[in-house]
Amino acid sequence: MTIPDDSPFTSAILSLEEKLRVLNELNTTHIVGCTRCRLHEKRTNTVFGEGDLGAKLMFIGEGPGADEDAQGRPFVGRAGQKLNDMIAAMGLKREQVYIGNVVKCRPPDNRVPADDEMETCLPYLLRQIEVIRPRAIVLLGLTATKAVLKKKQTMSSMRGQWHSFRGIKVMPTWHPSYILRVYTPQVRGQVWHDLQMVMAELGMASSTHDGAE
Ligand code: URA
Repeated sequence: MTIPDDSPFTSAILSLEEKLRVLNELNTTHIVGCTRCRLHEKRTNTVFGEGDLGAKLMFIGEGPGADEDAQGRPFVGRAGQKLNDMIAAMGLKREQVYIGNVVKCRPPDNRVPADDEMETCLPYLLRQIEVIRPRAIVLLGLTATKAVLKKKQTMSSMRGQWHSFRGIKVMPTWHPSYILRVYTPQVRGQVWHDLQMVMAELGMASSTHDGAE
């Protein structure tokens, strides 16, 4: 029997203690010393992900950049500052969401991870999603969107609408690095629109703040 990719997770939702134990084991046993693809050759640190293991909301980016590689933490550079702004505009603290990436090692020169690198690393992310089991996921940029949703459309056509992954609502939006690069009212307005859809879905109070400002 073929189980469709989008069938909801059936495993039990874990307690916070269990989540911590399972994710720590995933990290220490499988990720920290991972040599399953060429990205391990030039990494300084693996970047597992961080945040509230009971989070309703998860953000997923592409992969570590130079700052993340140096610190072993996701989104701590310029793009991370922008992501922090987006989270704050939603009325949340960074510590209240979970932040992860498609690949756990920095691609050299910040290139886009190759398809085989993403496929090799993806089971780790999928396990993180299964364990954390957020109510909604924001996919930051095309790489994360393609990797999780297996869709081949453009960001323009996928963002701003709900998609589904294993029973979890998924909202693709522009990557913080893209917002910084294309700092136009249109892009910032689109991101804020997408985040407001997420806030409405999660029953969070709306504000007039431009989250991508
Ligand atoms: N860009 C990403 O996609 N992820 C990070 O962790 C940092 C920058």
